[in-house]
Amino acid sequence: MALLASKVHVRLQLSRAKHPSLTGHSKMARRFAGQVPYYEYDETQFFRADAAPEDIAAARRAGFMRLAALYAQRFAKSAAQTAQLLPAVSDLDFTSRYRVPFQFSRFVREHFKAGSFLQSSSGVSVTDLDGNRLYDLTGSYGVNVFGYDFYKECIERGSERVKDLGPVLGAYHPVVAYNVKRLLEISGLDEVSFHMSGTEAVMQAVRLARYHTGRSHLVRFCGAYHGWWGDVQPGVGNPQPANETYTLNDMDAAALKVLSSRRDIACVLVNPLQALHPNAPAPGDSTLIDSGRRAHFDRDSYAAWLKRLREVCTQRGIALIFDEVFVGFRLAAGGAQEYFGVRADMVTYGKTVAGGLPVGVLCGSHHFMRRFREDRPADVCFARGTFNSHPYVMGAMYEFLQRLDAEPLRSLYRDLDATWNTRAAALNARLEAAALPVRVANLSSIWTVYYVGVSRYNWMFQYYLRAAGLALSWVGTGRLIFSLNYTQADYDAIADALVAAAQQMQGDGWWWSDPRGGRAQLTNKSIRRRVLKEMLQARWRAIRGRASGSYAARPSMGRPSESWSATSPIGSISSPRSK
Ligand SMILES: Cc1ncc(COP(=O)(O)O)c(C=O)c1O
Repeated sequence: MALLASKVHVRLQLSRAKHPSLTGHSKMARRFAGQVPYYEYDETQFFRADAAPEDIAAARRAGFMRLAALYAQRFAKSAAQTAQLLPAVSDLDFTSRYRVPFQFSRFVREHFKAGSFLQSSSGVSVTDLDGNRLYDLTGSYGVNVFGYDFYKECIERGSERVKDLGPVLGAYHPVVAYNVKRLLEISGLDEVSFHMSGTEAVMQAVRLARYHTGRSHLVRFCGAYHGWWGDVQPGVGNPQPANETYTLNDMDAAALKVLSSRRDIACVLVNPLQALHPNAPAPGDSTLIDSGRRAHFDRDSYAAWLKRLREVCTQRGIALIFDEVFVGFRLAAGGAQEYFGVRADMVTYGKTVAGGLPVGVLCGSHHFMRRFREDRPADVCFARGTFNSHPYVMGAMYEFLQRLDAEPLRSLYRDLDATWNTRAAALNARLEAAALPVRVANLSSIWTVYYVGVSRYNWMFQYYLRAAGLALSWVGTGRLIFSLNYTQADYDAIADALVAAAQQMQGDGWWWSDPRGGRAQLTNKSIRRRVLKEMLQARWRAIRGRASGSYAARPSMGRPSESWSATSPIGSISSPRSK
C-alpha cells in the first residue's frame, strides 16, 4: 500500500511538472495532430477570415494581387527553378507548404512564388537567380555568425591547409590537435568527439549519459529543439512515441522536484535559446493563426534558473548537457556557459564551429566521455561515423577557431548585447510611434517578431518583408537571425525596410480591427475557438463522406488530392523543425 502511494505521488509530481499546453504533453499533441482535418478557405473566406467588411476585403485583395504581380516579375527565374524541383525534393515541398497556416496555404502558394534558389552571397546580403540583392536574415539556420565572407575564407584557407591529405578518413590531419586544444579551452571540459551534425552530437551525449548513469530517461524542456532524433522529438513530427523522454516545464520549481526524486533520469538537456520563449516551440509563421506569439528574454532570471538546475543535477548525479548547437559562439566566444556563468557536464556545438562546413561537436568531462569500462571490457558505448573528423571540416574549423581568438572577431563580441538590445528597443519605439502592431524581441542577435494587435493575417508580413528586400527562412518572421557583421548602416536599412513593409501591410487592410470594439472585436481566444469549430466541421464532413462510401461530402473547401487524412496537420500546433 505504501509502495502504491509512493508511486502515485511520484507520478503526480511528474504531471505537475509538465507545461499545461499541448506542447508540454507530447503524446496528447501527437494524438490531437492526427485528428486535425485538412480544409482550406475559398477565395472569399481567404480575405474575410475575420469577418471584415467588403471594402477591407477589397483592399486586401488589391494589395495581395499587387504583391503577387511584383513577385511574378521580380522572382521569375528563382521561382521557375523552384517549381521544377519541388515535386522531387521532399524538403522543399514540405517547407513551401508550411510557411503559413494550412487553411491559407494553397492560395498563397499559387500566388507568391518567391523561389528557393540563390546564386551568391556577399557582406550581409544574398543574391537570387534574378539578380535581386536581399538582406540576409536567415542566418543559414544559425551557422552565419560572422558573415558569409568570413566562412568562405575559412573554407578556402582550410581546404588549402589540408589538401595534401585530401579526403583520407580514419586517421587525423594535424590540425585536429589545435582544434581539440581550443575546444577544451572554450568548453572548460576534458574530452571531445566529432560528429557530422548537431543531431548526432546530441545523440551521443545522451547515449553516454545513459551508459554512465545506468539510467534510462532524458529530460528536455517543453518546446526545446535538439535536432530531429526520435528521443529528443517526442511530440508532433515523430511518428513513434519517445517512451524514455520526460518533457518538463522550463524554469519551474516543479521540474526540479522531479529531478530530485526520480531515479531513472540520466541527463537534462538545455537549449539556451529557450530563454527567449520558455516552454514555447520555435516560432514559425505556419502556426500564426492568431496573435498569441510572445517572447521576452531576461538574462538574470534564466541564469538563476540554470544555477538551480546545476545544483540539483550535481546532487543527483544527473548529467547536465548544454546543447549549444545554435547559440554557441553567438552569445559569447565561450558560448552559453560563459554567457550565463554556469558549467555543464557535457556541451554540444555545431553549425558555425566548422567555419561553414557541416559538423557536430561534443565536449565533456572524462567521467562522461569515456566509452569503455576498465573492469568490464565488453561493456562499451559505441559511437562511430564515417565522416567524423573529415580533414576538410577540420581544416575549416581550424581557421574558424584561430580567427575567434583575434581581431576583428574579438571586437565583434564587445558590447554585443548592448548593441542588439539598443537596436531592438529603437525599432520597437519606431513601430509603436507609427501605430503599427508589430514588435520584436531578441536574445542578442537572434530575433523574433510578434504582433500586438489581434489578427488572422500576421503571416502575410513575411511576404511584404521579402518584397522590401529582406530574406527570411521558411519559418518566416518567427526567427530573424543577424550576423554580427551587420553595421549600424546595414541595420538602419533593415529597420527602415521593416517599418515600410509594416506600413504597406497596414495600408492594405490586413490588420483591420472592428471599430465598434467591444464584443465585435476579435480576440485570440475567439480566433482559436473559431478555428477549432471549423476543424470539427471538416472532420464531421469527412466522416459522413466516408460513411456514405463516397467523397461527395469531402470538406468542401479542400481539393480531392488533399483529403484530411493525407495531410499533416502540424501547422496548427507546433512547428516541428524551426531552426
Ligand atoms: C539546439 C540545437 N540542437 C541540435 C540541432 C540539430 O543540429 P543539426 O541540424 O546540425 O542536426 C539544432 C539545429 O537547429 C539546434 O538548434
